Amino acid sequence: MSFLNLFSKQKPADLPPLLVDMHSHVLPGIDDGAGNLDDSLQIIEEFIALGYKKIITTPHIMGDFFKNTPEIINSKLAELRAVLQKQKIEFEVEAAAEYYLDEWFMSHIQKEKPLLTFGDRYVLFETSYINESAYLTEAVFHLRSMEYRPVLAHPERYTYLYQDFKKFKEIYDKGVLFQVNLNSFSGYYSEGAKKFAIKLLENNMIDFAGSDCHGARHMQALKKTRQTKEYQKLLASKILNNTLL
Ligand SMILES: [Fe+2]
Repeated sequence: MSFLNLFSKQKPADLPPLLVDMHSHVLPGIDDGAGNLDDSLQIIEEFIALGYKKIITTPHIMGDFFKNTPEIINSKLAELRAVLQKQKIEFEVEAAAEYYLDEWFMSHIQKEKPLLTFGDRYVLFETSYINESAYLTEAVFHLRSMEYRPVLAHPERYTYLYQDFKKFKEIYDKGVLFQVNLNSFSGYYSEGAKKFAIKLLENNMIDFAGSDCHGARHMQALKKTRQTKEYQKLLASKILNNTLL
């Protein structure tokens, strides 16, 4: 590194921190995340301690396992907000969803039923971790034709993409945005997830970074992740989290 580069290099302290998280399971008792309001509050206190100003929490919606509806999600959101207000905790919580790409979701979008979105019509969705989804191309086409902006949750965790990095590029080139889990950078999930999170970062293919927090364990892991050099690189990248404030 030249003398000049040494001084022109942005120091970590100059980088804007992450103010908004857009993938978590913080609403009480409706998926595999927070079990009750105490869990929800504990997680929110951790987000506040890390400097976040807002979370957009995303309960699972699946055709068979977590049959959440906008009504269920919004009533739990109202419950949580009421407790925050009562306890005078100033923190913004919104809710969208993490849709599983299954038959139910396909039929839902084919009928053009409204979806829970965040920001400017972003729709968060996930697929099986092991098997390539037969619905992906069609789902993305439908979503984009309805002017939604599909965001694939944690692409670095899908082992069916690991054979060839081209597979990630093919999905990205369909107009799908990528949300990487922050804890993938510290190897919390697996070495494979870490490797591909770093590769996506190097290829400037990360649009959002999320905690995917299901409980206090993920917030603890996040503290470690924030010490990695990849986390600093991510803050300096094009990620859109803070546009959601
Ligand atoms: Fe999730």
